Amino acid sequence: MESKVDRAAADDIVGDVAWQRFSVPYQYPVAFVRGLFDADNPLFARIVRGPETKKRHRCFFMIDEGLASAALTTRISSYFAAHAKHLELIAAPMVVPGGEIVKKDLAHVERMQDAIHTHAIDRHSYVIAIGGGAVLDAVGLAAATSHRGVRHIRIPTTVLSQNDSGVGVKNAVNFKGIKNYIGTFAPPWAVLNDFDFLQHLPDRERIAGISEAVKVALIRDRAFYLWLEENADALAVFEPAAEEYMVRRSAELHMRQIAHGGDPFEMGSARPLDFGHWSAHKLEAITNHHVRHGEAVAIGIALDARYSVLAGLLPEGEDERIVVLLESLGLRIWHPALESTDARGNLAILVGLQEFQEHLGGELTITLLRDLGTGVEVHEMDASLVQQALGWLKARARSE
Ligand SMILES: NC(=O)c1ccc[n+]([C@@H]2O[C@H](COP(=O)([O-])OP(=O)(O)OC[C@H]3O[C@@H](n4cnc5c(N)ncnc54)[C@H](O)[C@@H]3O)[C@@H](O)[C@H]2O)c1
Ligand SMILES: [Zn+2]
Repeated sequence: MESKVDRAAADDIVGDVAWQRFSVPYQYPVAFVRGLFDADNPLFARIVRGPETKKRHRCFFMIDEGLASAALTTRISSYFAAHAKHLELIAAPMVVPGGEIVKKDLAHVERMQDAIHTHAIDRHSYVIAIGGGAVLDAVGLAAATSHRGVRHIRIPTTVLSQNDSGVGVKNAVNFKGIKNYIGTFAPPWAVLNDFDFLQHLPDRERIAGISEAVKVALIRDRAFYLWLEENADALAVFEPAAEEYMVRRSAELHMRQIAHGGDPFEMGSARPLDFGHWSAHKLEAITNHHVRHGEAVAIGIALDARYSVLAGLLPEGEDERIVVLLESLGLRIWHPALESTDARGNLAILVGLQEFQEHLGGELTITLLRDLGTGVEVHEMDASLVQQALGWLKARARSE
């Protein structure tokens, strides 16, 4: 599909202007497996080898400290020993800070670039990141900016990075407190989701990531939304088959949006996958990331669902139904920081709306709901309705 921002429409630019035009097809595999580094699992070696069967491929790992262990390092070394004909592990893995810390200071990205340089990773070698969304973002940026882009494989290890961020085409770190300010669009070489990594993930993180599945179901896939309702109890206790399906279906819907939504590199102002995110980004910032991204998204979904009802877009009662689903998954829909005000007495969340517009560039475009499974774009938000929606969430949380 053509990009929504097709500049050919600017053919009325006259004068001595030659239009440079080319397009580059992108493709990368997204796998869902268990036992990725079991010696007899050929997947990783096949993906690294690609069609280049003769040479040995140089690989360097960067691992999230939240899951780095001697056992994992040994498993990777044994895998490389078993596949030594084609794979070369050029150094011990570099352990990098996990979570938002790695995105808060550019020095971490610089250390990664330094390691890429020191180990002479060229544009045919691989930088492989194993970790949560934050680590994937930081390593992705280091890989994309070293030699103008070395091959980069993502191995996401949280629910959120497997069902959402890891399959996408962006990376970024924060700058001067602004989330995701320094980053690039850089499709990965491959994304390898290994469900086994989720076993060690703290329950809080494991639950938080489910909100991204609820998000994408609400805007794109009613059947998946109904499935989430039916399987909420199983998901809340991490029943493996339910968790796997939830991750996989959510990842597929994110992939479909990127490939077929018409704007993979976000040239326009619409960001359907950011449903529920305008307030979430702000809530994360106000609470200095004590509220996790997924937790903030759950609150943002509840807020925008109620707003959709108040704005006459979504039938009354569907907001309640969405909140019941979020709560039965173990997600909260209220946080006291939603009432924070800035130095001028403005509701901080509403300031976040302006910041979101800057982040989009151009026209404010917010995705709301018309139905369970159908998003709708609006270009203004009524501050008094936002406040009413907040009041509803607060009253509902208090009545429990
Ligand atoms: N690039 C994108 O398109 C995109 C999209 C959505 C979100 N994100 C970013 O992703 C980040 C959030 O990622 P996240 O929710 O995956 O969390 P995270 O990366 O912040 O990780 C959460 C915690 O879990 C630990 N951890 C990770 N995997 C583990 C495992 N298997 N076992 C035990 N501990 C583990 C980490 O060390 C960290 O302490 C945010 O910075 C957000 O901005 C990026
Ligand atoms: Zn998100």
